Amino acid sequence: MKLIVRPMLLMTVFFSLAFMTSAFADEQPEPDFAADAMKSPGNPPTIPHAVKPDQDGEACNTCHRTGLKNAPPTSHPERLNCTSCHVQGEVKKEKKTAPKGKKK
Ligand code: HEC
Ligand code: HEC
Repeated sequence: MKLIVRPMLLMTVFFSLAFMTSAFADEQPEPDFAADAMKSPGNPPTIPHAVKPDQDGEACNTCHRTGLKNAPPTSHPERLNCTSCHVQGEVKKEKKTAPKGKKK
C-alpha cells in the first residue's frame, strides 16, 4: 500500500504546482521598457533629448558621427537601428522659448 501512496502524493504535488505556476504566468505587469532601460546598468544610454518619431540611423549620425552640436560621438555609427537599443529617456533641458531680457 505504502509503495503506491508515495508516488501518488508526489504526482499530486507536482501537478498542483504545475497548475499553480501556469495560472499565475499571465499576471505579468505591462512591460515598461523605458523605465527598465534607465534602471539597468551597462545598457545603452537613453536618449536625453527629443527625437522625431521617424528619426533614426543617419539622421542621428549627422550629430553623433562626428560630435556635431556637442553631441557625444558614437563608437558605433554603423549600427543604424539606433532606436532599437536607445530608447527615449527623460528630456533634461527644455528648448529655450523666448530670449529673456529686452522688453518689447
Ligand atoms: C541635433 C543633433 C542631434 C541629433 C540629430 C541626435 N542627437 Fe543624440 N545627442 C545630441 C546631444 C547634443 C547630446 C548630448 C546630451 C544632451 O542633449 O544633453 C546627445 C545625447 C545622446 C545620447 C546620450 C549619450 C550618453 O553618453 O549618455 C544618446 C543615446 C543619443 N543622443 C542618441 C541619439 C539618437 C538615437 C538619435 C536619433 C534618433 C539622436 N541622438 C539624434 C545631439 C543630437
Ligand atoms: C545594438 C544596440 C545599439 C545600437 C543599434 C546603437 N547603439 Fe549606441 N550604444 C549601445 C550601447 C550598449 C552603448 C553603451 C556603450 C557601449 O557599450 O558602446 C551605446 C552608447 C552610445 C553613445 C554614448 C557614447 C558611446 O559610444 O559610448 C551614443 C552617443 C550612441 N550610443 C549613439 C548611437 C547612435 C547615434 C546609434 C545609431 C546610428 C546607435 N547608438 C545605435 C548600443 C547600441
